[in-house]
Amino acid sequence: MNALTRDLIKLVDMTEEMMKEKEQKEGVDYREKLHLMPPVGWLNDPNGLCQLNGIYHTFFQYSPFNAEGGVKMWGHYTSKDMIDWEYQGVKLYPDQPFDCHGVYSGSTFIEDGKMYVYYTGNVKLEDGDFDYINTGREANTVLVISEDGKTFGPKKELMRNVDYPSDLTCHVRDPKVWKEGDTYYMIQGARTKEDVGQALIFESKDKINWKFRSRVESEKPFGYMWECPDYFEVDGTKILSASVQGLEGGVWDDRNVYQSGYFLINGSILEDYKLSEYMLWDYGFDYYAPQSFETEDGRRIHISWMGMPDCEEYTNLTIAEGWQHCFTFPREVFVEDGKVRQRPVRELQKRKTFVDKSTGMLKKDGYKVYDVNISGIQNNEFRTVIDEELILEYKNGRFEMHFTSQDKNSVSAGRGMRYVDVDKISSVEILVDKSSVEVFVNNGEYVFTTRFYPQKDSLTVEAAGAEIMMEEI
Ligand code: FRU
Repeated sequence: MNALTRDLIKLVDMTEEMMKEKEQKEGVDYREKLHLMPPVGWLNDPNGLCQLNGIYHTFFQYSPFNAEGGVKMWGHYTSKDMIDWEYQGVKLYPDQPFDCHGVYSGSTFIEDGKMYVYYTGNVKLEDGDFDYINTGREANTVLVISEDGKTFGPKKELMRNVDYPSDLTCHVRDPKVWKEGDTYYMIQGARTKEDVGQALIFESKDKINWKFRSRVESEKPFGYMWECPDYFEVDGTKILSASVQGLEGGVWDDRNVYQSGYFLINGSILEDYKLSEYMLWDYGFDYYAPQSFETEDGRRIHISWMGMPDCEEYTNLTIAEGWQHCFTFPREVFVEDGKVRQRPVRELQKRKTFVDKSTGMLKKDGYKVYDVNISGIQNNEFRTVIDEELILEYKNGRFEMHFTSQDKNSVSAGRGMRYVDVDKISSVEILVDKSSVEVFVNNGEYVFTTRFYPQKDSLTVEAAGAEIMMEEI
């Protein structure tokens, strides 16, 4: 361990300790019950998600010193059931010449009972003619191995800017690794010098020596940068997920500044592929940079940052409390009736206590963490009002999430409206936590996620003729 690592450990420990004392003294308003948050400061992407010997591991982009972001390190949580998580401290610090401006996003590949953690070491070069896009940074691909998820071996730099194709800017990052036959493949996000977003594929026979193999691109340019690409197969469907920056015009103008969605892959991602149209993972306000992993019992789990980078439209009232952002509740991705769907992991079922059941309308006062299931919606009519100001509504062929006020100090903290066109609505599941809502429409065909800041703690669900069931978590 070098002197810098020792200093960073001390500083992070002190900052987390001070936050704990402050929260004990002053109490907390918006801390979530079910969702992962940073102990203090800022959290963004989920990283290195995996299950090893029965234990789930979630790392996260962590910037403890400032609730509005800063240099990134990897914080770590573990869990036995994806519901109760235990904070394990920071595992990767920005303490080497090749990652000194951030241990950026990456993933874990498990083999022979070991965690192979790949990430991007970010280095900002502030020389004379600083050009942030083309020459101003190093995006180093780094490997670090852990035998138990507790301690990590030395970091090894595997690739540098010169190892990536020369028509790219220095925006290459976020490695994710999988294996086919006896070959390992790594996908990374990239931005070309012509400002086109795409994914790169590298291959290796030993997980250490990698060479560039091919690219995945859309027929027409689609955004200027693809971040956090992820490739996996679920129920026989091949999915390429990417967080895309730079989509503009038409429907994109009604959406978030950046998008997270997926292409279905027809053929092989390695050659002769055809990409479907891009579909969004989530239609709400706060959702970016999801990552997936496979559980030991073969389920594909998806966790996302419940937040949005570079967002000026709206904010989060937790900044005043000294922290910002959380993760989505872990979701199972599955394909049914030809559609990619998401639902909260089944472990949630064991934690629920029945509260109330009704037909047509259900009202509740007093704050709780709820899972509300509305089934058998018959007349295509649905409306939910949460805390009097957050409205979920199906009307004129649109499912809408909107806030009555867009004031930055209101329940919405500046959020307005998001929608998706839906032919018919049959079921809605709403997961309400202390300061977030996740809404699963039509058995997870469409999902809406948002942070919000309740003042009144009331919930009214109306669905003509449908059955509404409320459970507390
Ligand atoms: C996505 C992202 C990644 C990067 C990380 C840095 O939100 O920009 O591309 O690795 O965040 O925190």
